[in-house]
Amino acid sequence: MSSVIQSPQKLLSPPQETDAEPLAVEPAVGAKRRLSKSGDSKDKRPRESVRQSMIHSERIVRLRKDRYRPYFLTVHEGDSNSPRNGPEESLRVSLEYPSNETESFLLLKPVLKNTADDDGAEDTDEYNPITDLIRTADLIYECFLTPSQQKLLGDDQQGVMRNLTKHRNRRNGPGFVEAVEEFNRVIRELRSSGELRKNAKAMRHPNYDLTCHILYQIYSRTVAHQAEALNNYAAFSNNVYGEINSILVKEFIAKTHITSSSVFMDLGCGIGNVVLQVAAQTGCEAFGIEIMETPCKYAKRQLKEYASRMRAWGLPTGKIRFRHGDFLESGNDVHPTLKRADVLLVNNYAFDWETNHSLAQLFLDLKEGTKIISLKSFVPKNHKLNQRTFHLPESILRVEEFEYFSDAVSWTNNGGTYYIATVDRSRLEPFYKGMYGY
Ligand SMILES: C[S@@+](CC[C@H](N)C(=O)[O-])C[C@H]1O[C@@H](n2cnc3c(N)ncnc32)[C@H](O)[C@@H]1O
Repeated sequence: MSSVIQSPQKLLSPPQETDAEPLAVEPAVGAKRRLSKSGDSKDKRPRESVRQSMIHSERIVRLRKDRYRPYFLTVHEGDSNSPRNGPEESLRVSLEYPSNETESFLLLKPVLKNTADDDGAEDTDEYNPITDLIRTADLIYECFLTPSQQKLLGDDQQGVMRNLTKHRNRRNGPGFVEAVEEFNRVIRELRSSGELRKNAKAMRHPNYDLTCHILYQIYSRTVAHQAEALNNYAAFSNNVYGEINSILVKEFIAKTHITSSSVFMDLGCGIGNVVLQVAAQTGCEAFGIEIMETPCKYAKRQLKEYASRMRAWGLPTGKIRFRHGDFLESGNDVHPTLKRADVLLVNNYAFDWETNHSLAQLFLDLKEGTKIISLKSFVPKNHKLNQRTFHLPESILRVEEFEYFSDAVSWTNNGGTYYIATVDRSRLEPFYKGMYGY
């Protein structure tokens, strides 16, 4: 049985520290990965045996256990409405994933800081393992099962899926654990018959909702508890930190037609969210470079967790690389990749004039048709293509302006403008003809 109720004593024992600090690797997923902490090339163990498993929900809750309290109530047998002596200590369950992995969850709720009593107000901004578990089960149900397979688990009116939410809402711990076990039993059966693998293959890439959930799981296990460190940048500098939210990234993917054969780059990738989302949703090759040490370290951490989680979900990863460095410097793999790139993102909202100007020079090496998404246009509003300007980098760019709306970016609730420039040298032909006759 994979879901177990643990005694309180057992739950209070210290967490195993095996994956305390995610290992620092910068793999191209699918390419050779250095998985031992020392990077010992003499390690001849088969890759399977050193593959790192995902960071379990249980682990991150334990790291902040002063912020969690029991959620489920113990009830008298036969009387589902009357709590006994207050909340039961805690429950632990394991949830089966589509691809032969399980994740362990402590069924606790996050409470507001400095809450003393056991039934303190829930902190809705903090990671909630029960919500994560239910959302994960819902997405396995929605995305990995055919309608006839879904019938084995019921729906939101009856059966296992209904029981998950019903027992959560009624704070009935034993009922909830039983529903998770029943869910696991069905998933194990479908997995051993090969059905889940077949369904995952047919899906090819996770849809937007599933991608967002997987990225949320990754972030909550690798970055969330240390996110304050991201505010450590010089104000009004190029390193001002801000993120494009997933809803706008989805729009970028659609507008620039990124597919599994595309090469995508994020110049100034921060913690790598955009790179991971684009790679997950499309299966493309994705590259991110970041000059600041902390966000780049988090990007690499997220990538490791991404590789483990995508494997658990039975989904392909795409080929992803993160680099620590300056996108304007030569000697890293920015420039060779730029020449192959189909789509670039430059979140240059806070970049100074020199940086934007130098980036525009780099764009001269881009291939025809490459699209550059940016928050400030690389082409000045008053730019006119003529004999005097046709040699300037911005003259090879055809720009379109778009609007984004609230919740699209992390630094404001308001809407704003973004730009997609397409490399189009054909516009220069008349000028070359006029000057050189060809
Ligand atoms: C606003 S954040 C964008 C993060 C991510 N691309 C997004 O849109 O969600 C811009 C990032 O660019 C980085 N950056 C600025 N200049 C850079 C340079 N010359 N090379 C690499 N990264 C740079 C900053 O440190 C910052 O993390």
